[in-house]
Amino acid sequence: MKKMKLDMNNNQIPLNLKQNQVFVKIAICLILMWFAYHLYFSSSIQISTVIDGDDDHKLPSSPPPVVANSTLSGELQVNNTGIHEDEGSRECDVFAGEWVRDPTGPRYTNHSCNTIEHHQNCMKNGRPDSDYLYWRWSPVGCDLPTFDPQLFLEFMRNKSMAFIGDSISRNHVQSLLCILSQVEEAVEVYHDDEYRSRRWFFGTHNFTLSVIWSPFLTKAKIFEDNDGHSSGAIELHLDELDSVWVNEFSNFDYIMIAGGKWFLKTAVYYENNTIIGCHNCNKENLTEVVFDYAYRKALHAALDFITKANHNVYAFFRTTTPDHFENGEWNTGGYCNRTVPFKDGEIGMRDIDSIMRDIELEEFANAKAAMNGSVLRLFDTTSMSLLRPDGHPGPYRAFHPFDGKDGNEKVQNDCLHWCLPGPIDSWNDLMMNLVLRG
Ligand SMILES: *[C@@H]1O[C@H](CO)[C@@H](O)[C@H](O)[C@H]1NC(C)=O
Ligand SMILES: *[C@@H]1O[C@H](CO)[C@@H](O)[C@H](O)[C@H]1NC(C)=O
Ligand SMILES: *[C@@H]1O[C@H](CO)[C@@H](O)[C@H](O)[C@H]1NC(C)=O
Ligand SMILES: *[C@@H]1O[C@H](CO)[C@@H](O)[C@H](O)[C@H]1NC(C)=O
Ligand SMILES: *[C@@H]1O[C@H](CO)[C@@H](O)[C@H](O)[C@H]1NC(C)=O
Ligand SMILES: *[C@@H]1O[C@H](CO)[C@@H](O)[C@H](O)[C@H]1NC(C)=O
Ligand SMILES: *[C@@H]1O[C@H](CO)[C@@H](O)[C@H](O)[C@H]1NC(C)=O
Ligand SMILES: *[C@@H]1O[C@H](CO)[C@@H](O)[C@H](O)[C@H]1NC(C)=O
Ligand SMILES: *[C@@H]1O[C@H](CO)[C@@H](O)[C@H](O)[C@H]1NC(C)=O
Repeated sequence: MKKMKLDMNNNQIPLNLKQNQVFVKIAICLILMWFAYHLYFSSSIQISTVIDGDDDHKLPSSPPPVVANSTLSGELQVNNTGIHEDEGSRECDVFAGEWVRDPTGPRYTNHSCNTIEHHQNCMKNGRPDSDYLYWRWSPVGCDLPTFDPQLFLEFMRNKSMAFIGDSISRNHVQSLLCILSQVEEAVEVYHDDEYRSRRWFFGTHNFTLSVIWSPFLTKAKIFEDNDGHSSGAIELHLDELDSVWVNEFSNFDYIMIAGGKWFLKTAVYYENNTIIGCHNCNKENLTEVVFDYAYRKALHAALDFITKANHNVYAFFRTTTPDHFENGEWNTGGYCNRTVPFKDGEIGMRDIDSIMRDIELEEFANAKAAMNGSVLRLFDTTSMSLLRPDGHPGPYRAFHPFDGKDGNEKVQNDCLHWCLPGPIDSWNDLMMNLVLRG
């Protein structure tokens, strides 16, 4: 809002005709954006009760002059019950809600988006059911508009955004790329040897999007190949950040950062370059340390860095993503063959996820209180994700996994990552909603 107003003021009226035409185009563009912005928010409810003192964060209060047939805020019932306490109670809590049927279906397909990673390309890999594509996240007491790629790219003009974390962050960024590809196809401008960290550029919008693979956020030596076969315990430094993201931090205007399931793995823990213990090692001369300790330390170090950095960012901190392996784990024959979401209350969070999320919430609260200049927001997708056992590739992480098999052979299931298109697309609806709110 503030940004767009500034843009209008900054445009000086050019002198010759050619420039005038350009100016008119820009002006029309800006006006359209203004309408789009209002339209976008008009279909989300604005709970006007507790808006904190900052005027910049106020939402447009009057309905837009042109609204085709979208819901106006006044027509929706206001319900304050779901408000996110730790977020300053500004608006309804978009992370509390339910999945509702939506016949609209996905906004992209494996045809329209050619960057879907093989392991998440469920349609192409032959997943037979498609019901999982027809659900929409519906927050309690407010409407969540779907992602508007044109508006998002305009908003991100001249900006840079990075997703920092493990392969779930990559899954998330690939959903974003697919959604944005409807407006502009990104050009890859960087990748590391394993294609785990990558950077794309949207030339028309001067927007840079990165994904940075840093599963621990802190410095770690990992002895594991791409298939997950490990040849030694991870050496994890809990008090030293991973330079792969820290060195680039000052280039980013927005980040989406997260911890995750790598912390459950066998690892030797270091502090101050000295071994302090080990998780799951079963080595006689090493003290067993619970993973909770490491998780808290590492998240603390990462968030502390963001808090104290000279560079200001808008940072999302994403909570843990539950998996849905049933009757076993990923390596012991667990599978996920459900085809519809759970209803609220139908499934409980597993201990691991509760422990991780509790640590995340505590560390988030501490960091939030210490923020100075930067914005830190919780991206609390744990509960909504828990309700979607149907959204994973399962065996369809591989191309036609049952072809040429007699049914007795083992197939590897993926009940952690998400099919694309799939439920993770909703994460971007939420992200856009929060980004535009400021
Ligand atoms: C708005 O949409 C509703 C159903 O979605 C329809 O019943 C109504 O006639 C529409 N109103 C206008 C003015 O188009
Ligand atoms: C508000 O939402 C809560 C659930 O968060 C629900 O129990 C309650 O009935 C709702 N109240 C109104 C007035 O809609
Ligand atoms: C897309 O998925 C369909 C199956 O739904 C498959 O037949 C087709 O080959 C896929 N196309 C691409 C480009 O992956
Ligand atoms: C983007 O940067 C260009 C060149 O510095 C500038 O002319 C333009 O106004 C900027 N646009 C926005 C939306 O910041
Ligand atoms: C692109 O954005 C950067 C800031 O991220 C700015 O410095 C540069 O001038 C912009 N370039 C153009 C052509 O707008
Ligand atoms: C870290 O180790 C060095 C010696 O290697 C020691 O001098 C220093 O006091 C240690 N710092 C902390 C905080 O333990
Ligand atoms: C543990 O014991 C082994 C063999 O006894 C030794 O090589 C290793 O350095 C010891 N590790 C630590 C941390 O003391
Ligand atoms: C899932 O697989 C189990 C075991 O093979 C089977 O009993 C169950 O009926 C399947 N459920 C669905 C929805 O296909
Ligand atoms: C907040 O940041 C400003 C400028 O960056 C600095 O002057 C001030 O000391 C900081 N306040 C705290 C509490 O760190």
